[in-house]
Amino acid sequence: MSIPATEDTETNTVELSRETIARVDISDQLSDVLALPEHLRDALWRVESAIMQGWDTSAGLVVAGMGGSAIGGALARAALGDHASRPIFVTRAYGLPPWTTPDTMVLCASYSGNTEETLACYESAGALGAQRVVVTTGGRLAEMARADGVPVIPLPGGFQPRAAVAYMTVAALEVAALCGAGPRLTSEIDVAASHAEQLVAEWGPDANEGSLAKEIAASLLGSIPVIAGAGLTAPIAYRWKTQINENAKLPAFAHELPELDHNEIIGWEGAESVGRFAAVFLDDSDAHPRVKARMELTEKLIADHATASLHLETRGQTAIERIFSLVLLGDLVSLYLAVLRGVDPGPVEMIERLKSELAQR
Ligand code: F6R
Repeated sequence: MSIPATEDTETNTVELSRETIARVDISDQLSDVLALPEHLRDALWRVESAIMQGWDTSAGLVVAGMGGSAIGGALARAALGDHASRPIFVTRAYGLPPWTTPDTMVLCASYSGNTEETLACYESAGALGAQRVVVTTGGRLAEMARADGVPVIPLPGGFQPRAAVAYMTVAALEVAALCGAGPRLTSEIDVAASHAEQLVAEWGPDANEGSLAKEIAASLLGSIPVIAGAGLTAPIAYRWKTQINENAKLPAFAHELPELDHNEIIGWEGAESVGRFAAVFLDDSDAHPRVKARMELTEKLIADHATASLHLETRGQTAIERIFSLVLLGDLVSLYLAVLRGVDPGPVEMIERLKSELAQR
């Protein structure tokens, strides 16, 4: 079934050239997205120069952060997959998991260094006597860490926090290796940077209008994207959702297989009666064969209820290459979608407003 365009449905009349993008993307978020390969390499160098020691934290690693600073922990955990030798947990909250002990490594990740949930986790980790490392550009977090003699991985300033995804992922991967929670993936990260360079050329603004990222953005225009991942791609689906929220200023939702086959799949039955929803499935060459079969069937069953149904697959050999292929694709799609909608992808006024109003309470 195709869902007819209503009068106020957005339609694509914009060509996605560097010039048209620059007219809308006032703070040049595009350059930060395209620089992902350099960010991967620079992040390795920054971790190596900031941390000269290793730890043996037998209780594993907790990554504490919010939003664009937390996603790196989730992607790192996905990249390590079965190779993680100790628990790796991401907390997006005011506190650490109750099982945190002095034998846990706590990586506090905050791009600004002023996110109150992350500052609270930093303090709780200190009170528990857990080993701490901080990754930030500065703020209160850097101040406290320097005063406490806690190692700081310094990040370059001037980005939107969500544009530092490669930095945050590499920091979490390297800290996981340094505390005994996983193998060192330094050379895989370097190879993934070269792989991402090829994809930047293939999907970037100089590619033709029929190139993958531009085509996906055009097909999502006018709909609410509902993104599905599984295993390795589950945190990538969440990254797509949050990038579409923050860059394109749209609602978007993410869920994962196999769980969504036990609930969300039914919700699609009523989708057209309330709005325009597009389905995006993020697949991976190494996914569990039963999950692959589920993804194919789910897509078939819901296709008639969606304005568009897209099945995308990771590209590359190693887990890191594959993860960053779809992270890059989603970042570009969200940015192109912003431009097609005529909205500046940079500002996140509502987030800023909430933080400042909350600070008054
Ligand atoms: C903004 C963004 C947000 C922030 C979040 C936490 O670009 O992505 O999700 O990451 O509000 O702030 P930081 O990262 O400064 O700790």
